[in-house]
Amino acid sequence: MLNSKKTKKVTQIDPDNIPSHVAIIMDGNGRWAKKRYLPRIAGHKQGMETVKTITKTASHMGIKVLTLYAFSTENWKRPKDEVSYIMSLPGAFFDKFVPELIENNVSVRVMGMTEQLPKQTLAAVNKAVEQTSHCTGMILNFALNYGARMEITNAVKEIALAAANHEIDPVDIDENMIADHLMTAFLGDLADPDLLIRTSGEERISNFLLWQIAYSEFIFSETLWPDFDADTFEKLVIEYQGRHRRFGGLEKESKK
Ligand code: FPP
Repeated sequence: MLNSKKTKKVTQIDPDNIPSHVAIIMDGNGRWAKKRYLPRIAGHKQGMETVKTITKTASHMGIKVLTLYAFSTENWKRPKDEVSYIMSLPGAFFDKFVPELIENNVSVRVMGMTEQLPKQTLAAVNKAVEQTSHCTGMILNFALNYGARMEITNAVKEIALAAANHEIDPVDIDENMIADHLMTAFLGDLADPDLLIRTSGEERISNFLLWQIAYSEFIFSETLWPDFDADTFEKLVIEYQGRHRRFGGLEKESKK
């Protein structure tokens, strides 16, 4: 009896401790394809299916923001064919998936240097943002052509310009002002991820949300992104729930 109780405790999600914001570095698409003697783009295609599954799972779980790293400012260095394929994915993805997103009350947002995206990619993303703008449930936030150093550099430029124009006094620059100039500002109190996951066994941050992850819990999963499923995701949320977040303080004090 005691044992079954104990097992239950560690295998079930605690609905009162759901991470509000989960960010994922979706990695391993290429290796998934290589293992099957398929071209790399087959991994991205399957990875897109995983995005659908995890979006629905996260939304049902009560997660408020799911930020997915879909394309970094460094990913342009990949072969041209692969980049074009990835850039065609939002069109294919949203065409089919928007009705389900609406059914699940999920709204789409995008952050990154979107003005540098191919016209069709940007149009597909903007259309999905618009079609789901009335949804009030989970925010599905795609980081597309995103890089944290560029994001912070732009924030510094904006603040410096405001100071040079005497719109602000440099002594008033604080953490909130910087956060307000980052691409996650629209998320308000939810801008900082509670949980950051990277799949495929790589243990790097790769220029993702450098400011916002100051106090995030990190989980590095061995699973390749195309193999990542609802079960795996739920297990990681349970792992997160077992962590003791102290935000630099002492555990007891932080609960006060
Ligand atoms: C990393 O795997 C994956 C990417 C750079 C692309 C991720 C894109 C998707 C999963 C689809 C996104 C869907 C939409 C709708 C935008 P990798 O290629 O670096 O894998 P590897 O490390 O095994 O080579």
